[in-house]
Amino acid sequence: MRLAVCSSKGGVGKTSTAANLAVALGAHGRTLAVDADPQDSLGRAFGIIAKGREDSLAGLLEDPSLDPRGAIRRDIAPGLDVLPAHPSLEGAGVALAAQGGLITSIRRTLRPLIAEYDHIVLDTHGDLGNLTLAAVCAADAVLSVFTSDPGSALGVARVSAFLHQHLAFENTSARLLGAACSLWDPQAKAARDVFGAMEGTDIPLFQTRIPMSRRVPSSTLSKRPVVLTAPSSTVALAYLALTDEVLAAYTSKGLDR
Ligand SMILES: Nc1ncnc2c1ncn2[C@@H]1O[C@H](COP(=O)(O)OP(=O)(O)O)[C@@H](O)[C@H]1O
Ligand SMILES: [Mg+2]
Repeated sequence: MRLAVCSSKGGVGKTSTAANLAVALGAHGRTLAVDADPQDSLGRAFGIIAKGREDSLAGLLEDPSLDPRGAIRRDIAPGLDVLPAHPSLEGAGVALAAQGGLITSIRRTLRPLIAEYDHIVLDTHGDLGNLTLAAVCAADAVLSVFTSDPGSALGVARVSAFLHQHLAFENTSARLLGAACSLWDPQAKAARDVFGAMEGTDIPLFQTRIPMSRRVPSSTLSKRPVVLTAPSSTVALAYLALTDEVLAAYTSKGLDR
């Protein structure tokens, strides 16, 4: 599975979801986590900070002759390697867009690695810009994330429309596996209302809700996703259950064939 985690909004829990899913998928098969966000938060979730474009995704996108393996950090968690981003990815994206090569750049960069990994998880910036499109073009499946903020639910609808549009353009064949609710607070009426409204749409919804937990921000400080630092906590168990749902959705859509 090549899974892009996308939303049209930031701060909805994408990076936390991508990091924890990547760790969980590492237990199912060799997994590569790719940070496609110039804010480089996915690498930071594991304590990885690239020095510049040369040891990050940015350099690989700019120079197709480079071996992507040179920028990959190995065995960051059991079964998991990480390809970090760097803020220079923003400028690299602008330059590639001007040359017409951005949309296919991540797919091209990752192509030699596909046979080496069972799963690739791509974290994206909180927008539907061309870098996000490049990540989606490298993926065969998409997970979107929303919270109790109605705007984030609207963002999921925008991701769905974005995928339909780029499927029609034949830029990507990636399918929306579903939307996951994060920062879930069952006591909050807004959270229940937004989840209920999402249930009334035709967007597939994961039943696992990732609860709001202080463990998630503190795991960023300790540079280890919560499924590693507190594997039996409620929030870690939710990430593991979500991973199982994501794999089941991938199989039920026939994408594993
Ligand atoms: N389940 C959660 N409970 C509490 N805080 C969370 C949870 N998930 C994410 N956060 C926090 O919310 C903020 C945004 O999360 P992040 O994963 O970076 O979102 P995004 O990648 O969509 O911007 C971060 O400070 C993160 O630690
Ligand atoms: Mg993020």
